Amino acid sequence: MDKKVYVPDPSVSRKSHISSMKQYEDMYKHSIDNPEEFWGEIAKQFHWETEPSKFLSYNFDITKGPISIKWMEGATTNICYNLLDRNVKNGHGDKIAFYWEGNDPEDYSRLTYKKLLEEVCRFANVLKSKGVSKGDRVAIYMPMILEVVIAMLACSRIGAVHTIVFAGFSADSFAERMLDAKCKVLITTDGVWRGPKLICLKEICDAAMERCKNLGHEVKNCIIVEHLPRLSVSQNRNGTTKENGDTSPEKNKIPWTEGRDFWWHEEMEDASTSCYPVWVGAEDPLFMLYTSGSTGKPKGVLHTVAGYLLYAATTFKYVFDYRPGDVYWCTADVGWITGHTYVVYGPLANGATSVLFEGTPFYPGNSRYWEVVDKYRVNKFYTAPTALRALMKFGDGPVKKHSLSTLQVLGSVGEPINPEAWLWYYVVIGHEKCSIVDTYWQTETGGHLLTPLPGCTPMKPGSATFPFFGVVPVLLDENGKEIRGPGEGYLAFKRPWPGIMRTLFGNHERFETTYFKKFPGCYCTGDGARRDEDGYFWITGRVDDMLNVSGHLLSTAEVEATLSAHPNVAEAAVVSHGHPIKGECLYCFVTPNEGVKFSKELTDELKKKVREKIGPFATPEVIQHAPGLPKTRSGKIMRRILRKVAQNDRNIGDISTLADEGIIEVLFQNRIEIK
Ligand code: PRX
Repeated sequence: MDKKVYVPDPSVSRKSHISSMKQYEDMYKHSIDNPEEFWGEIAKQFHWETEPSKFLSYNFDITKGPISIKWMEGATTNICYNLLDRNVKNGHGDKIAFYWEGNDPEDYSRLTYKKLLEEVCRFANVLKSKGVSKGDRVAIYMPMILEVVIAMLACSRIGAVHTIVFAGFSADSFAERMLDAKCKVLITTDGVWRGPKLICLKEICDAAMERCKNLGHEVKNCIIVEHLPRLSVSQNRNGTTKENGDTSPEKNKIPWTEGRDFWWHEEMEDASTSCYPVWVGAEDPLFMLYTSGSTGKPKGVLHTVAGYLLYAATTFKYVFDYRPGDVYWCTADVGWITGHTYVVYGPLANGATSVLFEGTPFYPGNSRYWEVVDKYRVNKFYTAPTALRALMKFGDGPVKKHSLSTLQVLGSVGEPINPEAWLWYYVVIGHEKCSIVDTYWQTETGGHLLTPLPGCTPMKPGSATFPFFGVVPVLLDENGKEIRGPGEGYLAFKRPWPGIMRTLFGNHERFETTYFKKFPGCYCTGDGARRDEDGYFWITGRVDDMLNVSGHLLSTAEVEATLSAHPNVAEAAVVSHGHPIKGECLYCFVTPNEGVKFSKELTDELKKKVREKIGPFATPEVIQHAPGLPKTRSGKIMRRILRKVAQNDRNIGDISTLADEGIIEVLFQNRIEIK
């Protein structure tokens, strides 16, 4: 299975932007030999209020001075202007920017480019009226509704920096991020239905704002979209009918602080539909987005305006082979980088029509994705392997009820796609005629780094194949020596592409240490990779203490810290373990305090604590009793051994540095099988 190469159908190749590997190689070479010319040509389609004085300057070598990356320095522009005004001026005002599909199939709407621009201007004026100006950070904690896009672009229109926190994070995690970013204003909704479950987002926001206040930072204003009354399902469930939907019981129940909280619709009522864009510098911040760090403290990844625009636009165009008339759908939540680049910025920069989906793949049934594909005649579709694996479980039946005949490109992101899922995607969803683009990238990279190109790259299931334009990957050994030809090592990149982050907010030193210290001269991803005899790259997984649960990056350290903080826990160690649907999951070893019984109550409490502290997606799969942990004589926990216990692999290798060998057998005996 591993060996087979899937060559794109020639009828597809003929119509693609990049129709052969020769064309890809020529363009790639040009992007490397002359980045200024390559990206300069692309930049011409956008509006620059002032032209750059220098196109690219950077230092990637920490031994030579501070790390710095600058694209189009001296230029001024506005990304919102480029996404909306420019497209409206070019005659696309009446084109649909988004088809919105709600959690309930009966809730849907659409928004044209012109209307989106008006709404963005109105909300930009609202933000200004709340004292938000260039450089201020604005927190967004919202579900997948049109207002989230409006809020993001309103920020970028006035030069404010949006900081979206995925609305599945707990109040504590959210507070930690708002505190670090010193957010001035927060935008949220009253609540959201996720599948059949109601979540009161405003309550979580209140708890987070309260926590921030106690820790010395006050979020001045909170703007709330009234979302619940629109949801017919919730009203039906509450015994009211659709006709009197405006009197949803939830509406009046949400907690409210006079003077701080404002309804979105009331603020928007009198706001003007025109708002002159603030021209910002090419290297001014556009947004920050927190991602897990291996020490446990989240990192505020900061992206800037011009380079991100160029990279989001270009990767979107080529990786999805975008052309006018397409209907594109990326299922990612805007709370993650995929949602930023490939739900909002990339598609809008190309004047594309997208589907914005609020729901889940399983509600009201397991064929919801395929229903939506047929409903909007989606031809480019982008999702995560974890969703595919979860859907595969139900067999081909739910898929076969739908035609899916419009599909042309199928994308995958967030984690390695296993060959079984790849084949299911290719055969059952794509009817063996679509290109699969397995896109490897990170929050930090802003856009795709390694990816096949549709109609061009011969595909190998599970390989992210080759670098995108301007990207120079290298494999390094432990000593930083480059591995040439086939081999396996640390995956690093030798020079900056326009979309790479510029710093970690408020902590440039951590930025340099995390990404540039281990291998001077290179950006170090934290992932391992293998290059095969044909030059294809295969991501082998994280090489640090991070894991990828359903495509969400987590650090074992933050989960360990949460478990150890429980008063009945003496010590905890967490390792990653393979999971058939989630890809990876958390396997935890917990040593209770002397005299404390290791009970179901304790494990339930610990799971609850992790959910509350980090978020539901971080809930441990297994919490195993560990009367002791395997440690070296110097007291370091040997997680390597714990991984073997979790896998039930008795081949544990060298244990000569272990202080107490006896504990290993006990741990194997207490082992819990993952269901
Ligand atoms: O380990 C890699 C994995 O996801 C990590 C980045 O996670 P995050 O910053 O949350 O961004 C996810 C969306 C881009 C990477 O370090 N990863 C992402 N895409 C792939 C992948 N692993 C293998 N194959 C991929 N296509």
